[in-house]
Amino acid sequence: MTRGTDSAPSDPAADAAAVFEMLSGGVVVQTLHAVAALHIADHLADGAVTAEEVAEREGSDPRTTYRLMRAAAALGVLSHEGDHRFGLTGRGQVLRADAPGSLRSFILVQAGHAHWQSLAHFPEAVRQGGTQTKKALGADIFDYFALPENAEEAALFAQSMGDLSGLVTKGAAAAVDTAGVSTVVDVGGANGDFVLALMEANPQLLGQVLDLPHVVNGARQEAEKRGLSDRFSAVGGDFFTEVPAADLYLLKTILHDWDDTQCTAILSNCRSAVNEGGRALVVEMVIGEIGKPDFVTRADMAMLSITNGMERDLYEYDALFTDSGWRLAKTYPVGGGYYGLELVAV
Ligand SMILES: C[S@@+](CC[C@H](N)C(=O)[O-])C[C@H]1O[C@@H](n2cnc3c(N)ncnc32)[C@H](O)[C@@H]1O
Repeated sequence: MTRGTDSAPSDPAADAAAVFEMLSGGVVVQTLHAVAALHIADHLADGAVTAEEVAEREGSDPRTTYRLMRAAAALGVLSHEGDHRFGLTGRGQVLRADAPGSLRSFILVQAGHAHWQSLAHFPEAVRQGGTQTKKALGADIFDYFALPENAEEAALFAQSMGDLSGLVTKGAAAAVDTAGVSTVVDVGGANGDFVLALMEANPQLLGQVLDLPHVVNGARQEAEKRGLSDRFSAVGGDFFTEVPAADLYLLKTILHDWDDTQCTAILSNCRSAVNEGGRALVVEMVIGEIGKPDFVTRADMAMLSITNGMERDLYEYDALFTDSGWRLAKTYPVGGGYYGLELVAV
């Protein structure tokens, strides 16, 4: 007898239904994409509204807007109040642009042009052993974002990273031990959300973001907005070339973008530049037991599709750290499925 995912006897009809359900994943993502792109959650922020009113405000087709909102209600993102009127559920709140913890920009990026075009080449990425982004977009993902014609997409990407960071930066900033630390560099820090959260929690810290030149202005603006400019600076550079000296490096969702050789290069550059007695904090999801339902192996497929990187298990991370002159000293959950991996220089 064949088996399903557990030891129960297989039920062909249930198995087919489960596969059908998985196959609708792409449409679910694009439904959320349309909800985000048409600002549906923002139009409903003050209360239930008819699909026709939303269409009028948004300048969209009333019939297809209604169909979208009906599908979103079936996903539990909207509530149907009768007569084509829809309201926001808790899930829908997450799609508002201005909601704390908003995932709107993340959805626009994950379901948007660059990511979706890359995913279309996914089987080939597996066959060839790496991302087909060059074929899909004409350039690797970070080179693509650096092109002036893609500035809007790049800004949205940086914003989405910041919004996503909100899920973990508080926990990570509370967990990290800043004793003896005065300078912190957020390596590939995008808008600087992580280092700025750490600076807010530790008024003695001087913080810096190192990121690509087209990204760092966003970090300066964010520091200004939070009133932290006097303790903050941003450097446009390349972490494969060098990183500024620091007592503590933050590498949040950086290593998962790169292959092992590239990760070792980034970590070795941090190791060479770190001040005496300094540390590094890597924040990543970590692959656990194989075969258990999880989010991180899906993220691994996304990394394979879009970047040159991968999600890793703890042994794989440990090997990278050892190869680049660091020792894994502590591991702790920081929320949102992420872990803090604290490294000391050896
Ligand atoms: C996945 S994002 C993570 C951003 C941020 N650490 C966070 O968790 O929100 C990767 C970041 O690495 C930056 N990056 C990519 N290549 C880089 C390079 N060669 N040197 C410096 N930064 C780079 C990107 O611009 C982007 O901001």
